[in-house]
Amino acid sequence: MQPHGIGALLDAEGSDKGLWYGGLYGVLLEPSREQIRCVVEIGIGTVIPEAAGSMFGIGNDNYRPGGSLRAWRDFLPNAAVHGVDVAADTQFTGEGRITTHLCNSTDTEQSAAMLRSIAPLVPDLVIDDGLHVEAGQIATLRNFFPALRPGGLYVVEDVLETAIPGILEALQTIDPECDFFVDRSWGECVAIIARKPTGQNKASRTRRPARWLEAHRQGLQAALAASKKRRRTMADIVRGSRRRLRYLIGN
Ligand SMILES: C[S@@+](CC[C@H](N)C(=O)[O-])C[C@H]1O[C@@H](n2cnc3c(N)ncnc32)[C@H](O)[C@@H]1O
Repeated sequence: MQPHGIGALLDAEGSDKGLWYGGLYGVLLEPSREQIRCVVEIGIGTVIPEAAGSMFGIGNDNYRPGGSLRAWRDFLPNAAVHGVDVAADTQFTGEGRITTHLCNSTDTEQSAAMLRSIAPLVPDLVIDDGLHVEAGQIATLRNFFPALRPGGLYVVEDVLETAIPGILEALQTIDPECDFFVDRSWGECVAIIARKPTGQNKASRTRRPARWLEAHRQGLQAALAASKKRRRTMADIVRGSRRRLRYLIGN
């Protein structure tokens, strides 16, 4: 039988993203997966060993560039899936609903050109799984967050604890009205999730936390309780893969 949950789809593609973030994405996206029309993921997954953020030695043996893009395509039945990467080996054509773009997400002009190329589509979901260093995550946020449709979601994966204040500060300057949370549900693999405001219900938002945040918090707690076995600590990551640690600290 074909896998259908996002975690299982990512696992089947050989990406490590299912292990770290499958639970988060299941809770975040399962309820709206048929409504999502456009996903942009920064970081397609080069397998060039010496490239920054390479999947070489991290993905499973069956991993090939675009593993997570194929999982999004299969999980989000109505979405166009756009991948952005700086590495040439990540570019491919001929796979339904997937388009790859050679683009440095930290470069304002290249990012704007990429976004113009997909117009009139606007992203419902942007995932930053590219350059996992604070300055790169902030530059990418500045380039892609404003392009989200109102109500759209932006996820920054693999955020270091030390990078959280800087990223949240940048988010406040980009859009002071946006909602966000920091997800630490999956051990040391921290993510920041932000939602672009819809411009509606501002008055009620000032009186109580946004409902979507509450729902996700509760969903994440339940998902976490159901899968304690998958939770890992940094010590496990170090034991499992020194490359992974280097990658987390951005070298
Ligand atoms: C961890 S891999 C992505 C894995 C993929 N999302 C998956 O789960 O199958 C990170 C990718 O980010 C790319 N990358 C690094 N810096 C980037 C940048 N400034 N702009 C776009 N992509 C970048 C790397 O070339 C690498 O392919």
